Amino acid sequence: MASGLEGLAPARPAVHLTPPVGWMNDPNGLCFLDGRWHAFYQHNPDDAVWGPMHWGHASSVDLVKWDHHPVALWPDELGTIFSGSAVIDHNNTSGFGAGALVAVFTQDLQGLQRQSIAASLDGGLTWNMSNDNPVLAVEAENCRDPKVVAIDDGDPRCWVMVLAVGDRIQFYRSADLKGWDLAGEFTWEMAADGVWECPDLMRLPDGDPGWLLTFCVTNAGPHGHSASLAVSGHFNGARFEPSAAPAPVDFGPDFYALQSFHAAPADNPVVMGWMNSWHYSNFHPSNGWRGIQSLPRQLSLGHDGRLLAAPALDLLTRSSPVNGPTWSSKPDRAIYIRADGPVRAEIEGGDGLVAAIEITGQSASITRQGELLEGYAQRYEAELTQSGGHEIVIDHGSIEIFAAGGQATLSALTFPGKEWHVRVEGQAELRLL
Ligand code: FRU
Repeated sequence: MASGLEGLAPARPAVHLTPPVGWMNDPNGLCFLDGRWHAFYQHNPDDAVWGPMHWGHASSVDLVKWDHHPVALWPDELGTIFSGSAVIDHNNTSGFGAGALVAVFTQDLQGLQRQSIAASLDGGLTWNMSNDNPVLAVEAENCRDPKVVAIDDGDPRCWVMVLAVGDRIQFYRSADLKGWDLAGEFTWEMAADGVWECPDLMRLPDGDPGWLLTFCVTNAGPHGHSASLAVSGHFNGARFEPSAAPAPVDFGPDFYALQSFHAAPADNPVVMGWMNSWHYSNFHPSNGWRGIQSLPRQLSLGHDGRLLAAPALDLLTRSSPVNGPTWSSKPDRAIYIRADGPVRAEIEGGDGLVAAIEITGQSASITRQGELLEGYAQRYEAELTQSGGHEIVIDHGSIEIFAAGGQATLSALTFPGKEWHVRVEGQAELRLL
């Protein structure tokens, strides 16, 4: 990491998932099983930088407090364990047992990427690798991050896998999670030349357009950061017909590799993203661990087709009012700001201004200060075209804005050190989480 920056590392976030030790990147295998939200994640347990990938594991009943579980998936002779998803196999299509949780993921063997599966019969605590691994080998340099969804369209191949392959998304079908047939693909001309990663296919509640396809590109975000994109459309089980151009899921620098929770008890997709950018994720100030997941969010489509996002948990009832427009950080507590009109908030650390948040009728922005890292100190902005309330969550080391009724979200890491202060101007209510 860049020298001299250690003192800027934040304390542990209060309401966000972080790894107990080591390194964390993408959320993996997100699912809701027997009353608990499970989050697996890309994990290097031995060091706070990216390294041999495992799946870490945590679960939560309220999406705020996370219980940590033993490392779930370990590298084997087929490679390290890259990103992927999990599904509950109620009908035992895969033969692991009715109700098995089946993980579908990429194994990386020194750059050779193939797709494998493993099953758990105890809620994700212990896993057995399939003897049929790898279950899918595509001839391509970058082919990874399978996300599996179940669809009921009369085809016995009820499982659909979306896979990032080069600069496209491929759709595969399977009856048993082991044999996969290529059914179709989707691509889009992009200005950014980065690798496509971490696709997802989410069903939207009112059938038209019906589906949201998301994918991530390493350098397609503002100021060259990593970006998550979403495109709505129709999906017939093989072909995806977009109803609009792909648009950013988030307008900040640090929201990547989003994934939806399988079997979530909600009409709209509930997603979580890794709050970081491949630009600097390995180098930023740390206290011996690196990685933070976003707050879980519900995605929906507005009347104009624009993506809306809302916190997936009820922050209002979980929080209590703070008197006055200022607040000084406390361990294990985060600050939640609700505003109706224009609002400005400043975060200050020991060295002065860390970041400024500004929301007007036309835009929402985060401006970070300090030449900490390449591409760090920039202004990140989203245009607003509708009115609506604003929600802001400031935790140790993170800012998330849900502006104008969720019309735009902005997510950014901050490095204010252990102690910091917030000052808010405008018609805003500060609440303690
Ligand atoms: C995205 C990603 C994935 C890959 C994983 C490796 O952040 O690059 O494409 O599976 O991270 O950790």
